[in-house]
Formats: sequence, structure tokens, C-alpha cells
Amino acid sequence: QLLRAGPARLQIAPPDFPETDVWAFNAQVPGQLLRYRQGDQVNVRLDNGLDQPTTVHWHGLRLPNAMDGVPGMTQAAVAPGDHFDYQFTARDAGTFWYHPHANSTEQISRGLAGVLVVDESDRPDFDADEVIVLDDWRMTQEAAIHDSFEDWHDLSHAGRLGNYVTANGKPDLTFDAAPGSRLRLRLVNTSTARIFRLRVSGLRIWVAALDGMPLETPREVSEVVIASAQRVDLIADVTAQADEEAIIGSVERDGTYATAVFRVAGAAQAKRPDPAPLPPNQMPDLNPAAARSVPLIMEGGAMRGLPGGAIWQGAKMDMRELADMGQFWAFNGVAGMADDPLVDAALGEVIRIPITNRTAFAHAMHLHGMHFREVRADGTMGPLRDTILSIPNEPLEIAFTADNPGKWLLHCHMLAHAASGMTTWIDVA
Ligand code: C2O
Ligand code: CU
Repeated sequence: QLLRAGPARLQIAPPDFPETDVWAFNAQVPGQLLRYRQGDQVNVRLDNGLDQPTTVHWHGLRLPNAMDGVPGMTQAAVAPGDHFDYQFTARDAGTFWYHPHANSTEQISRGLAGVLVVDESDRPDFDADEVIVLDDWRMTQEAAIHDSFEDWHDLSHAGRLGNYVTANGKPDLTFDAAPGSRLRLRLVNTSTARIFRLRVSGLRIWVAALDGMPLETPREVSEVVIASAQRVDLIADVTAQADEEAIIGSVERDGTYATAVFRVAGAAQAKRPDPAPLPPNQMPDLNPAAARSVPLIMEGGAMRGLPGGAIWQGAKMDMRELADMGQFWAFNGVAGMADDPLVDAALGEVIRIPITNRTAFAHAMHLHGMHFREVRADGTMGPLRDTILSIPNEPLEIAFTADNPGKWLLHCHMLAHAASGMTTWIDVA
């Protein structure tokens, strides 16, 4: 499988606007859908047709560290005209995605992101299985991508939010569905900052998996919140009648906009019992009682700032000096990558990270290489995730078994934040 990152020109804006110059994988936005069966070997050659270095990070896939795609940490960045071969086993069935991990705000905002689906070896039966990629774009009136990638306001506020939302790169994604049919919908948020809040009509929905990992029991919901980089697999029963529409709408400040529309037609299907869980992936034991606790304090950004300054590249700086370096956030008093990891974990060790969000913003915290669970205040554990939303002033604690050796990033997936301070790493050895 070849994945070529390069420039392309595609119709992203509505039809009455011109085409948009994008950067894309195999000239598609979203990038070409990669689909494997659980246990398959993944062999992908990345060809760099950009005029700047790039890599591919396989978001949410549990793979060997050398395949993780982090330049300067797990591999050298792939120079323009050069290539790199990614090879690993698709261990887990689920919905994953891939994106560059070099100059990420710009490369992903320009269109470099695609979905990787791993089908269960015993594939559950649905009437349809659809991928829905949610994204936003910051477009000019001429439908060009605005080249504000290091805007200080974005860095220090909620990230680089777009002014135009698409599903699968289109303003008007539509599907056909039969009344009463049961769909599996794989929602993926590839935006670099936007938290989508989705409501549905004409559908009864259950969350069946989060970030590629099935829930023990599908949970019926009326609304879905999906932060940057997260995935939500829904099981959706079409309750709309023939000649009606079922809609997935994005709740925005000024109203709810249809992002995906199902045109319902045909003969009604028989009503079914509530959906069964998807088959689980094989995960390590996680006993939070046996864990070592390593706190993470997040500070900075507009409104609250870094009044005590922070360390950047080994030097203590005040807020002004940090801003001159484009740094606005800190983890445990350090802006950006530190020489030392946040956690030095022994292989197999259980780590808990209580996260204190002292900023005025939400952050989508992502751990590479391993899934974690939330440890709730009452001691119970949440579902497996690779990206979790931290809300200001709300305590959040995660726990994971450090069973994958290597150097793994832990960063905010609001990528303007990651670039301006919110990146650290974990060493498992
Ligand atoms: Cu989806 Cu470090 O990335
Ligand atoms: Cu953030």
C-alpha cells in the first residue's frame, strides 16, 4: 500500500465556491480509507510529495515504538522526495486514523488525515458500515485555506478553529438507508481543535466503541460529544419512515447543522433486539490499586497565563520570554518537550495520572501507544480511550498499564496547544 502525501486541488467548499488547494494522502480528503482485518500485516510506504518533512502517526494503534511516526523520537522525519516503510500487525479491531506528526497543525489543517479501519476477524453483522470524518476548515472567501497556522490567538486560546465544517470532506454528506435498518457509524474527529456535539433525529443510537475499543455494553445516548482525534462507533437504528430523512446534526452556537443525512427509502426492516456488544480486543490487566501516581498539572493560556513562568528547553523563562518563543502552556512547569519524561515506567507497571487543569480551556489529552481508562472519583473505571477531554477545574484521572516499550508522547490534540507547550512523553522500559 502506497500513501503519497502531496498537494491536490479538491472541491471542499460548497459547489458555488472554487476548488481548494489542499495537502492530501493519495489526493483524497479525507485520505484514502485503509482497511484491514484483525491480525493482518500492515505494510504502508509513505512517499513524501510535500516540500517539507513529514511522517505518519497511526493514532490509537498499539504498535511497536519504531512505527509510531514521531520525528526526532521514534524515527527521522521523511524528507521531501523520500519515503519510509511502516510495517506492523493490526492487533486491535476498531476505528483508528492516521496523520502526520510533523508541523502537525499545518499539515493536518491542510487536509492530511485519513481513517484506518480494522475489521473484527468475526465481523458483526450490520446493514451498513460507514465512516464519517468530521472536520473543520478555516477558509477565505475564495475557499483557500487560511495560512494562519501559528496565530498567537489560536495558540493561547481554544486552538485553530475553522469557520466551515465538513463530513468526509463535503458540506452535504448523504447516505441511503432502509427504514428500520441497523447501521454501524464510525465517527472520527480529525479537526485540530473543534469539539463536536452531535444530535440525531430519525435514529436511535448506541455508543458501541470509543477510540477503537468496544464498550462492554453498548450505551444508548441522545447526544455525542467527540473531541479532536477521538472516535465514536455508533450503532444506529433508523427510526425515520420511508421518504423521511434521518440526520446527524452538529450543535453550533447559532443552531444545529446537518453534517450527515440519511435518505430513508424502501421496505421497512423488522424491529430488532437491542444491539449486542462488539467483540473486545485483548487488553492488559489494569489494577489501579497497584498503581504509581504521577500528577500532571496543566497551566497557561489566555486568561490564566503562566504567572510563575516555565522552563523551556532547559531555561527558566517568564511569560513574556515564553510568548516570544511561541510557548503559552506548561505541564508541571515545563513548556514543550523536556529532556526527562513525565513518567519513567517499568515494563508492565501500572501508572495513574491525576490531571489538574488550571487553564481556562478544554484539552483533548492523547497518549501514544497504550490505551488508558479514566479512574472516576468513586474508584470505578471508565471505558478504554486514547484521547480524553479535560475540562477546566474538573479533576480527571487516568490509569494505564505500561505494557508497550518505548518512548511515547502524551500531548494535547488541540494541535496549536501541543505546538505551544502541551507536549510531554512517557518512557516505558
Ligand atoms: Cu493523533 Cu500525537 O497524535
Ligand atoms: Cu489543549
